[in-house]
Amino acid sequence: MVIMTVWSSKNPYSSRITENYILNGEGSRKETRHIVFDLGDSGLEYKVGDALAVLPENPQEIVDNLIVNQGWDPLQIIDAGKGEKTLRDALKMDVEIHRVNKRFVGSLISKVESSGLKINVKLTGRRRMIVGGETILDWNAESGDTLNGLNSSAAGDDPVAKVENMADDSSAMEDYIWSRDYLDVLDEFGVKYAPDEFLGLVDRLKPRLYSIASSLDAHPGAVELTVGIVRYSHHGRDRGGLCTIFMADEIDDSDLPIRVFMSPTKTFVLPEDPSVDIIMVGPGTGIAPFRAFMEQRIYDKASGRNWLIFGDQSSKTEFYYQDTIEKWLDEGDLSHFTTAWSRDQEEKIYVQHRMAEHGKEIWDWLENGAYFYVCGDKQYMAKDVHRTLIEIAREHGSMSADDATHFIEKVMMREQKRYLRDVY
Ligand SMILES: Cc1cc2nc3c(=O)[nH]c(=O)nc-3n(C[C@H](O)[C@H](O)[C@H](O)COP(=O)(O)OP(=O)(O)OC[C@H]3O[C@@H](n4cnc5c(N)ncnc54)[C@H](O)[C@@H]3O)c2cc1C
Ligand SMILES: NC(=O)c1ccc[n+]([C@@H]2O[C@H](COP(=O)([O-])OP(=O)(O)OC[C@H]3O[C@@H](n4cnc5c(N)ncnc54)[C@H](OP(=O)(O)O)[C@@H]3O)[C@@H](O)[C@H]2O)c1
Repeated sequence: MVIMTVWSSKNPYSSRITENYILNGEGSRKETRHIVFDLGDSGLEYKVGDALAVLPENPQEIVDNLIVNQGWDPLQIIDAGKGEKTLRDALKMDVEIHRVNKRFVGSLISKVESSGLKINVKLTGRRRMIVGGETILDWNAESGDTLNGLNSSAAGDDPVAKVENMADDSSAMEDYIWSRDYLDVLDEFGVKYAPDEFLGLVDRLKPRLYSIASSLDAHPGAVELTVGIVRYSHHGRDRGGLCTIFMADEIDDSDLPIRVFMSPTKTFVLPEDPSVDIIMVGPGTGIAPFRAFMEQRIYDKASGRNWLIFGDQSSKTEFYYQDTIEKWLDEGDLSHFTTAWSRDQEEKIYVQHRMAEHGKEIWDWLENGAYFYVCGDKQYMAKDVHRTLIEIAREHGSMSADDATHFIEKVMMREQKRYLRDVY
């Protein structure tokens, strides 16, 4: 009897990255990578439309700097909710330490108060502060004045006032945590935590999902992704997204293990009937599942027509999978290919603008039973595409605005389940 291992977030498979390269052309503002994982003898399987869950690890430098900053013993055995291990390993693998959370900032109040930092404002000699003609501080160290009564607006350097202000003002809190990690905060406030106390405050490490960009039939034993690397710089240090930086910088092609498991979809699937047409709208990394759909339709010799609407900043630097797409076109696998390069001209051209231009033809496909798919940015793109689809139904289906909305949202999306989204 063969016993199959069930890989999950509690029991992830340790994969290896076998290919990891940048898809952008020189001069691009973006870093989008094609990353291939080896499934080895895991027995892991997937279908197109599924996502791969990746469990990242924190950068070793941040882990080690944190340990030194706090004077902890890296070999202390600790349980951060994912089994006993050394403190160094728990900090690397079990918690998120690349961005400070609100709970931790809130905990600073008792720390700064108990360490006496409240009266430790860096003032010596005689200080006067006048705001709007009003003296808000007149203080003399020599005469032993205390800072009681200090107006909060003058308390910019007072650690307690600063933390209390953030606790009361959610936008100040958001601003503060946006650009800082734990090292920034511990340095700024000069406070100490016991390892257990620290681990009790920080977030558990969460897996990141990536839409799979390959078909297992076309790439046996492998899973491929299209990943937008998140990089930014704050307070003089380069930083970025935990998982994307881990895959791009720490793992790259180093042959180190990386923990993964599958996240199957029930809804973002190809039509059961291979003769049904599909329209795929996938700008940027949104192209990922559609590369997989195309590979599967070609492998299955599906007779339905395929229309890909893709876009990104420039045809010169973001034409991901150009050779593959041209081959699909040459061989007739892709019957329609529409591009929207947003920065190749003065005015922005987005996928929804191209949809509107091809509104009549899109409506004909939909009337003929085509499935309509969207993948990529949830906040702006997917909403604009949704509005445009309703507008196409209104204009070309000769419907009222209410009927068009009903058709797209109720009939196509909920009842017929042929308007499907994978947005993030
Ligand atoms: C179903 C699904 C499918 C997905 N598929 C894909 C895919 O195919 N390809 C892909 O690339 N991604 C995909 N994602 C997104 C992916 O899961 C991750 O969210 C993404 O890679 C970022 O992860 P990270 O760990 O690198 O960043 P995190 O450490 O999680 O940080 C990301 C956060 O950083 C913050 N941030 C961004 N810029 C700045 C800045 N300048 N300063 C401070 N903070 C900043 C933002 O709040 C952002 O939310 C998908 C998500 C879902 C839910
Ligand atoms: N949740 C996360 O942690 C996370 C991590 C990484 C990425 N993301 C999101 O995932 C998305 C994918 O990133 P990506 O780099 O692959 O592509 P992207 O940023 O979505 O850009 C792809 C194309 O879409 C265009 N675009 C911008 N606004 C649009 C709109 N309202 N409607 C239609 N198109 C629009 C862009 O144009 P311009 O750039 O010229 O405006 C670009 O040409 C990003 O939007 C990002 O916010 C989320």
